[in-house]
Amino acid sequence: MSLHEGKTSMKDNTAEKIIVALDVSSREEALSLVRQLKDTQIFKVGLQLFTVEGPSLVKNLHDLGKKVFLDLKLHDIPNTVAGAVRMGVRMDVHMMTLHASGGKEMMASAARAAKEEAEEAGKKSPLLLAVTVLTSLKDEQLKDIGIGADTKSQVLNLAGLALQSGIEGIVCSPKEIEVIKKTYKKGLAVVAPGIRPKWAAAQDQKRILTPAQAVQKGADYLVIGRPITQAPSPHDAFLRILDELKS
Ligand code: C5P
Repeated sequence: MSLHEGKTSMKDNTAEKIIVALDVSSREEALSLVRQLKDTQIFKVGLQLFTVEGPSLVKNLHDLGKKVFLDLKLHDIPNTVAGAVRMGVRMDVHMMTLHASGGKEMMASAARAAKEEAEEAGKKSPLLLAVTVLTSLKDEQLKDIGIGADTKSQVLNLAGLALQSGIEGIVCSPKEIEVIKKTYKKGLAVVAPGIRPKWAAAQDQKRILTPAQAVQKGADYLVIGRPITQAPSPHDAFLRILDELKS
């Protein structure tokens, strides 16, 4: 059992399984959604929102009692990524991402930095998540960048490297949840985007699963954006998904 699972399995944490993606371009839009989503506990802040609003937006979310999944997909030399992870710990983020293709040394430095920084400050380390192969890349595009392996083998290979480097979770497409869980059991927490309830439009997402299907396959967290944020009532949409998961 991963450290993270151990900490969260004591209570009903179903609401914590649903991470709402704040894919908007301003603080006002983000905070308006957050205020509506009173029962949502974790919000994803990605490159778009963080680039324009930065750490003060993370603080705004904390002031509203929310947890932050900082999705910046770090990829640089080990020292630089470790430094960014330390800043994530100082910002009290709950989860953050880095690219597994940055290599074992980069991931291990990040994992060490998170642990050290958290210990020094007497706080909980964020859950570090490795991004394996971006779902926008197919076998052909992997070849273009010099990778001979097919997508699935590359995902498994990178997930294995992440685990060996002390990383506790990965982000993967819904179609990879099962094989990751089968191969690495509970060693890796799985965060899955590409989730669509039956009643929501697929939009540009192709390989989709419903929230219940994704959890059944072993997803520990679901990242859901538009089905919630663009619903007539985001809060009702969130509660509807929560109900579906609980039943
Ligand atoms: O609106 P939607 O539910 O499609 O949003 C999904 C979120 O998950 C977005 O923030 C998107 O960037 C992210 N994501 C994704 N597919 C991936 C990785 C991340 O949709 N493979």
